[in-house]
Amino acid sequence: MEKKLQDEVLSRRTFAIISHPDAGKTTLTEKLLLFGGAIRDAGTVKAKKTGKFATSDWMEIEKQRGISVTSSVMQFDYDGFRVNILDTPGHQDFSEDTYRTLTAVDSAVMIIDSAKGIEEQTLKLFKVCRMRGIPIFTFINKLDRQGKAPLELLAELEEVMGIESYPMNWPIGMGKEFLGIYDRFYNRIEQFRVDDDKKYIPLNEDGEIEGDHPLKISGLYDQTLEEIMLLNEAGNEFSPERLRDGSVTPVFFGSALTTFGVQTFLETYLKFAPSPQPRNSTDGEIDPLSESFSGFIFKIQANMNPAHRDRIAFLRICSGKFERGMTVNLPRAGKSIKLTQSTQFMADDRSTVDEAVSGDIIGLYDPGTYQIGDTLTVGKDNFQFERLPQFTPELFVRVSAKNVMKQKHFQKGIQQLVQEGAIQLFKTVKTDDYYLGAVGQLQFEVFEHRMRNEYNTEVIMERLGSKITRWVDGETVDENLSSSRSILVRDRFDKYAFLFENDFALRWFTDKNPSVKLYNPMDQH
Ligand code: G4P
Repeated sequence: MEKKLQDEVLSRRTFAIISHPDAGKTTLTEKLLLFGGAIRDAGTVKAKKTGKFATSDWMEIEKQRGISVTSSVMQFDYDGFRVNILDTPGHQDFSEDTYRTLTAVDSAVMIIDSAKGIEEQTLKLFKVCRMRGIPIFTFINKLDRQGKAPLELLAELEEVMGIESYPMNWPIGMGKEFLGIYDRFYNRIEQFRVDDDKKYIPLNEDGEIEGDHPLKISGLYDQTLEEIMLLNEAGNEFSPERLRDGSVTPVFFGSALTTFGVQTFLETYLKFAPSPQPRNSTDGEIDPLSESFSGFIFKIQANMNPAHRDRIAFLRICSGKFERGMTVNLPRAGKSIKLTQSTQFMADDRSTVDEAVSGDIIGLYDPGTYQIGDTLTVGKDNFQFERLPQFTPELFVRVSAKNVMKQKHFQKGIQQLVQEGAIQLFKTVKTDDYYLGAVGQLQFEVFEHRMRNEYNTEVIMERLGSKITRWVDGETVDENLSSSRSILVRDRFDKYAFLFENDFALRWFTDKNPSVKLYNPMDQH
């Protein structure tokens, strides 16, 4: 690959922010974009944030969708780097897309609300990052408010998530008494709410302020020095290798709302975050610096407006260079396609993209050609990237066609939507009922809407609530083990799985049937 292009690829940093709703993802994203000069006003991303709406209100969802497409990927330049931030929707939008987005990044930033600690959605997304071996950076937010003690937060990281932490900086007080951060990496103190020229205080070789300083009078300074000593002596080791193999997460403290600690975070992140990583394929690892273009589709955004059936397929570029108008192969279908309509995502707008390289995400106009997980290649290349993982669904409905005369449409619609990756389909072993499984409620509503508008079929969906899904390790299982509390089903690849009513039912079953080996694909790394 020519040097210029190589430098381009090596300048890419592509990450997702993982967090529980309200931890501050929107606020942090906005501040990062401000530093990158991608937006001019604070509030731009906020205004686009999916608001609270009744999930049945489709007009509203449509409006929100149109917007959320553009804010799904945001790009900015900083200090010679090109940063791509991928959105991982929360709230009602939480879906398999949220998980799949993590297959398209090279690192993740986990935001934790200092008062709340680790919350459910953060933990779920963390586990997917772990499974995929994605390096994780942690930003502990809202230090301007009273929260949990920093040492308690680190203990939570280790106990709940099982990851070692390495604080890059350490808060001096918090809430009303928040004075700033002690920066172990840059060996300086960064003061909160002071004039810019006083913001940084350099530290001497012993990690202390030289001479007199008003900060030294505060008891918090001494307490911080003690805590730093403790971290230096008994804390974890940090190295880029340990970050990359997922054994340690660098931790940053700050306050996104007041833009405190955000720039330091960004600059340190850029020093350690990986550039585009190789991806496995049927031809072995594909080097991001290799000449010929390749990529995979990790998300398809359907247009909710029945007048526009078009969709946007999100492509992560894995090697070579994308040029508008190029002809690519779609090995799954044995087709070639000319890519004339492509979109790049900016914070303010969608714009047409002419060129992009490994690490970048582009949107392709999709008249129904693509499926999630599809590989695109060029020339003689015909490999396919590793299949995207199947995520364990948690919510289920029983689905049938309202009008029995519409069985054919119903079958066609369901097969296509399942293939596209919009939803997971299961069939009960005894009764041949159709169950749909999803990780978020919105996936069912999207399914219902698309069946009506694209396949002209009204469906009946009966809620079955949440279930614990465990696949059977092996080809066969005694079908008589199926009961109302442990329903035996087959997935679309004909693999057996049990849907357990709750944790108790799962434990009871495994105790009674030790010979049946069960597994959760999301536990495997
Ligand atoms: P999300 O995208 O993760 O859901 O969170 P978002 O950034 O929207 O932040 C959630 C709430 O937390 C917002 O308040 C936001 O202003 C607040 N917040 C974010 N970062 C900080 C911080 O560093 N310190 C403090 N004190 N608050 C923070 P809200 O009242 O829900 O929204 P708004 O009415 O302020 O817009």
